[in-house]
This record gives sequence, C-alpha cells and structure tokens, in this order.
Amino acid sequence: MQFFIAGRQLQLATLEFYQHHLETDGLLVAATFAEPLGHYLEGEGEEGIGRTLAMIQQEVGHNYLIVDHNYRVVGYTADTGYEHIDRVDETPELVEARSERIGADIRPNQSGQDTLYLAVSVLYEGDSLGYLVLSEPMQPAYREVNQRYIELAGASLPVLGLVIAASLWISGTISRPVQSLRNSAMLMAKGALDTRIQITSQDEVGQLAETFNYMAGQIESLMKTQRSFVSNAAHELRTPLMMLKLRAEALAEETLPTAERDLYLREIRQEIDHMAELVSSLLMLARIDEGRYQQNRVVTDTVSTLYDILRNWRIEAEKRALKFDITMDTGLPELPMSPNDLRLILDNLLANAIKYTSEGSIHVKAAYSQKGFALEVQDTGVGFTPEQSVYLFERFYRSEQVRGKFAGNGLGLSVVKSILQQYGGQVEAQSKGIRQGATFTVTLPLSQLANPVTHLTKEP
Ligand SMILES: Nc1ncnc2c1ncn2[C@@H]1O[C@H](COP(=O)(O)OP(=O)(O)OP(=O)(O)O)[C@@H](O)[C@H]1O
Ligand SMILES: [Mg+2]
Repeated sequence: MQFFIAGRQLQLATLEFYQHHLETDGLLVAATFAEPLGHYLEGEGEEGIGRTLAMIQQEVGHNYLIVDHNYRVVGYTADTGYEHIDRVDETPELVEARSERIGADIRPNQSGQDTLYLAVSVLYEGDSLGYLVLSEPMQPAYREVNQRYIELAGASLPVLGLVIAASLWISGTISRPVQSLRNSAMLMAKGALDTRIQITSQDEVGQLAETFNYMAGQIESLMKTQRSFVSNAAHELRTPLMMLKLRAEALAEETLPTAERDLYLREIRQEIDHMAELVSSLLMLARIDEGRYQQNRVVTDTVSTLYDILRNWRIEAEKRALKFDITMDTGLPELPMSPNDLRLILDNLLANAIKYTSEGSIHVKAAYSQKGFALEVQDTGVGFTPEQSVYLFERFYRSEQVRGKFAGNGLGLSVVKSILQQYGGQVEAQSKGIRQGATFTVTLPLSQLANPVTHLTKEP
C-alpha cells in the first residue's frame, strides 16, 4: 500500500517536473517571439518567423506552432502537420491560455502518440498578440516514471521484506506461547492433570502461563483429594458391611446359643450406628464442599446454649471417672452461627477428648476477647506428635496410637474444620507429645460476631 502511494507521488512529481520544464521553455520562446510576431502582424513577411522557429528547435528542441489571436497559423516547425492548415481549432490548452496566459493538455497527436501541448500567449507591450503552442511527446516522461518505479521497488522491496519477516517473527513470539497454552488446556481437559507449561518469558503471556500452572496444580491436588476421599469412604463402608454379613450368616445358624445371638445382635446394632454416623459425616462434608451448606441463624444466648450442650458431656465424662471443668466468660456475645453447628463442633471435640483420655480431666473454656470468641477443649489423653498434628484435620486420618484401639472414622475433625470455614473461623490443635494430653482451640474472629460486647464480666 505504502509502496503504491509513494509510487503515485513519484509519478506526479516526475510529470509535473516535465511539464514545468517545458513551460519554462515555452515562456522563453514566447518572449523571443513577441517582437517578430508584432512585426509580422503589422504586415512584414512570415519567413522570418519560420526560420527563427527552426533555429530555436535546433537549440532548445520541441515542436512549435505560432497562431495569431484568431488561431490563424503564423508559423510552425517541420513535421507538425500544419503545412496545409490556415486556422487551428480551439484546443483545450488554447482556451486555458486565453484566460491564464499558459495552458496545457495531454492528448494523442496525429500518429496516436500521447503528446503534451503547451500554449503560451505571446505578449507584446502588454497585449496578447497570439499563442505559441509547444508540443512534445510524453514518451520520455513515461519512460522516466517507469525508471523511478523500478528504483523505488529496488529501494523498498528489501525494506518490505524485512518488515514482513519482522512481523512474522513478532506474531510468532506472541502466538506460539498462546498456542502452547491452548494445547495444554486441551490436554488438561482430556484428563492429563499433570500438564504444565514451560515458562519462557516474564511478560503478560508468561504471567498467564504461570497462572495456568498454578491453576493446574490446584486442580490436580483437588482431584487427588477427591479421588482418595471417595476410595477412603468406600473402604470405610466395606469393613462394617463385611462384619454385618458375617454376623447375619452366624445368626442364620439355628443352633446358635442365645447368649451369642444377643452378642451378635448388639454388635450389628453398633455397626449400624457406626455406619449411620459415617454416612451423616460424609453427607455433611459433601454438602459443605458443594457450597450447599448455609446456615443464617444465630446463637443468641451463647452461655446457656453452651451449658446445655456441655451438660451431657459432663455426665459422659464422669461415667468414665474423668474430672470435668468449665470456665466461661459471662458476657459472651451472640454468635453468628447456627446453634446446631455449635453443637456439632463441641460434640466432636468432646467426643474425641473423652474417647482418647483414659484418666485425668477434661477442661472446657469459653472466652471472649478483642480478638474474638475462643472455645478451648483440653484433655489429659493420648496426645500426638508435632508431625501428626499436621494431619489431624485431614479426612480419614487417624493417628497410630488410636487406630485399632478406639472406634472412629477419622472424619470428626474435618467436619469441625469445614463448618468453621463457613463462618470464617478456625480450629487449632496442640499437644506436648504422646500421652501428654491435647488442646483443641476454636476461634471466631471479631468481625464475624453479630453483636460484639465491649465489657466482659467473669463468672464469680
Ligand atoms: N483429643 C485428642 N487427643 C489426641 N488425638 C486426637 C484427639 N482428637 C483427635 N485426635 C486424633 O485425630 C484423629 C482424627 O480425629 P477425628 O475426630 O477426625 O476422627 P476420629 O475421632 O478418629 O473418628 P470420628 O470420625 O468418629 O470422629 C484421631 O483419630 C486422633 O488420632
Ligand atoms: Mg472424632
């Protein structure tokens, strides 16, 4: 495009130069003829004019015709075709010259060649006596234009080539990484979750690739967790089902003594309770995972709700000869949490504390500070190592000191953690080591509290 614009400019400039050059000649020659034409018109012979024209043609070149005011032919150079013509037609250049002093027109001559005709009015003492018509074939000008085009192409083609090569290279550097991003996304969509992109730059595309890799990592670990969750759940259900099957087969035995029959029936009931618990924990986790778990209720009377929940656990603890203490701030605020959820959290923590503590005490503390609401369940039980503490809240995790010795699915703490996440809260575990007891602390941040109180009073 640029090439053609430049070419067109060159063409116009060349033709204009050609025309101006001829105009200068025409004006000079017209000036030369002012006096002779004046004499001629006053009755002197025309030979003088013809001869002068021939001389000028030899000196300057071009073909000439001189006409008077009425376009009567006064003189001409050879081969111009005016030999037998008395008067010429009013051609466009003559019309223009009449008003503008100088006029130009390009048209084919008698032999069909494009020719430039220039008419210049011949002035003598301010009066126009007639016109000098200079004619010159356009061929040399056209040839020059072609030559200019060739030169232009010669100069611009390498540049054009460079520009094309550079733009191909630039578009390649942009599109290649985007293409590889797209391919990786397609691979992932087909299930290759370990797909990652090699990051080769730090620009926007590089950042996009980094984000993609991060997202791919997250998806991969999420899928891994999900898969292991399903297989663990299936595994956890298979054991009690096996056990139910064996007991059912034993019960089919008619000769089975009554005592054993009662034992098996009791075991079957326990197993069913255990499975029911497992299924409800799984359902709860699935609902939270899917984002279908929303509770917009509030614990209004926090202190009495807590005492209400703890009453049963005190009985349970005392049954096992465990000491049970409660320390509670009296001015506890409303909790932006469903009472059911508060119960689920405490039930899980206390069930663990009592289950994993064979002697000693359980201590529950509920406090409210500038940091928010904190609930602590402390026991003197089996405890855990710092390494184990990392896994306690993972689904189905059970430490080796409890596995096989205490019943459980390894889901209670993950339920606690998931519920708390819904409310922006968290749960932490601490232990000085194995058989050193454990402390689980639940916190709800201040901003989550519906009606924070500023003055706290302690129970006397
Ligand atoms: N109070 C505690 N003292 C020592 N270890 C604990 C305590 N609470 C939990 N743990 C450890 O954390 C693991 C996970 O607890 P979680 O409550 O999730 O499962 P669980 O009690 O084994 O089974 P369930 O699903 O019936 O609650 C336990 O198996 C145990 O190893
Ligand atoms: Mg538990």
